[in-house]
Parts: sequence; C-alpha cells; structure tokens
Amino acid sequence: MQWILIFIFSAFFICIFSTTWLKKSRKYESINSVASSYDSWTNDRLLENLWGEHIHLGYYEKPRLKKDFRQAKIDFVHELVNWSGLNKLPKGSRVLDIGCGIGGSARILSDYYGFDVVGISISQEQIKRANQLTTNKDFCRFEVMNALDLKFEKGSFDGVWSVEAGPHIFDKQKFADEMLRVLRPGGILAIADWNQRDSTKYPLNFLEKLIMNQLLIQWTHPAFSSIEGFRHNLLNSPYCGSSVEASNWTRYTIQSWNESIYEGFRRPFSILKLGPRSILKAFREIPTILMMRWSFSKGLMRFGVFKSRG
Ligand SMILES: C[S@@+](CC[C@H](N)C(=O)[O-])C[C@H]1O[C@@H](n2cnc3c(N)ncnc32)[C@H](O)[C@@H]1O
Repeated sequence: MQWILIFIFSAFFICIFSTTWLKKSRKYESINSVASSYDSWTNDRLLENLWGEHIHLGYYEKPRLKKDFRQAKIDFVHELVNWSGLNKLPKGSRVLDIGCGIGGSARILSDYYGFDVVGISISQEQIKRANQLTTNKDFCRFEVMNALDLKFEKGSFDGVWSVEAGPHIFDKQKFADEMLRVLRPGGILAIADWNQRDSTKYPLNFLEKLIMNQLLIQWTHPAFSSIEGFRHNLLNSPYCGSSVEASNWTRYTIQSWNESIYEGFRRPFSILKLGPRSILKAFREIPTILMMRWSFSKGLMRFGVFKSRG
C-alpha cells in the first residue's frame, strides 16, 4: 500500500511538473486537440525513434516472453488479421485503416496481404510522414480525414480496420456507425481498442477515478468505452449486418507497457539525440505508461478486440 501511494504521488508530481514545464496540456477538448497532439508527437520523431512505425501495443503469446518490441507490434497486426478473418479476403480487396498513425499497419496490409489500402488520420503531420515512409503508393494511400465524417460512399470497402483510435473519439456510436456504413455487406470489420471496465456494473472507486482521470487527460482521450459498451454500439448501428464478436486480449498485450519503457534504455540514443526537450517529453510519458500498466493488470482497463461481417 505504501509503495502504491509513493508511486501515485510521484506520478502526479511528474505529470503536473512536466505539463507545466512543457506548457502543453493534452486534455481532450475537440478533435483539434487530438490532431495537434499527434502532429507534435510526429514532428519531434520521439515515438517513431523509440517505438518504430507502429503506435500500438505488441502481441506476446505468453507472459514474459522475450521478443523484440517492434516485432511484437508486427505480430499484433498478423494476429488481428487472422483472428478477424481479414486474411480470407482476396488480394486486391479494398481496406480502410481508420486512425492509421504513420501507416505501420496499412503498409503490412498492403505489402504482405496484397490489399488496396487507404489510411486516414486526423493528424496532417502523420499523413505527411506516412506518405514519406510508403514506397508502394499505388496500393497504399493516406488522407487526412475525421473518422466521424468519412468521405466514402456506403459499402465502399471490403475490410475496415482500426487499431487504438477509438479512445480519442468522443461519439462512440457515430464511430461505430461510420465504420459499418463504409463496409460492404459481408465485408470484414477488425477493431482493437483500449477499453475500461464496465462501470455500469462495477463502479470505479475513488482511487480508480483519480487514475482514470489521468489516463484520459494525459493522452487526449475524451472517454474509454467498455468492451460490452462498444460491442453494443456496433450491434446497435443501423448498418450492422451480422453478429459482433468481442474478446479481451489484455493477457497478450500487457507486456507492451513495460517494454515501451525498457525500449528507452535499450535505445537511449533514439531519445538523447533529439535533445533535452525530448528527454523531458519521454520522461513525462513514464507515469502514464505505469498507470496504464497498473490499470490493465487490475482489470480497470481491458484490451478489447472486435470483429464482425458487414
Ligand atoms: C494510438 S494512434 C494508433 C495509430 C495506428 N492505428 C497504429 O496502430 O499505429 C491513434 C490514431 O487515431 C487517430 N485519430 C484519433 N482521432 C481521430 C479521428 N477523429 N479521426 C481520424 N483519426 C483519428 C490519430 O490521429 C492516430 O493516428
């Protein structure tokens, strides 16, 4: 208990100190705050130098498995493709990656599976960087677009993919509706997201509320759905054509939180070469990463994956 209190006090102190010093709050205010946070995370190259081109958790088949963090992220993409059934789509199928980051998953979907991929993100700088990193531009394109206002006709895609974008999105029902609207009947939906425990059934206690507040304001999240709640959003959508399956992958992904800190020690120059401001920025992330690790280990947060046929 004593260690938990020391940890929580240090975490709050570091968060408040670094937020004040960097003069930048990352609290969600609108989609513009999400866009500017990702613009800044992209331009300083901190995330990319440290964790590579995938801004999502890695997949570990069993606890404490020794695996390169970047390889675990690539493995995660293949695991979600296989679990969702996206691998059953023929080459040339049109796939939309919603909240594509700098295009790590989109390039695998295009290069390895032969899909014709469009990635969209709210961050202009991410789209610029995704284009710079992509060679196969005929079959892997990127556009700045809001997930809540997709500029595609109904049923335009054979597959819709979204990894860890949902927590940044305020209107979860509209998010579910838009994904299913652009998916053709019989197409494949594959989603992975950070979710919180179903607080309608198991309300949060005082400590959990404090932690949850930090998890929201540190990384520009308006709210987390529960796995049950988002499955309900998908089923409730007027565009939902079949059943929706959800699963909790916390046990396969939780190791990523520790690994994301260890990477800083394994590749110190990836941070040091970016200068003192980036070192402090990296330091600022540690309490949030530890709080995430704690929340996932206690069941306050859960890693949800969802699949459906349009
Ligand atoms: C944690 S990153 C995940 C990136 C990518 N899926 C990956 O796995 O590498 C979240 C992504 O969601 C995008 N995003 C958040 N809100 C969005 C919105 N309203 N419309 C489009 N993209 C959004 C961010 O710009 C960012 O690219």
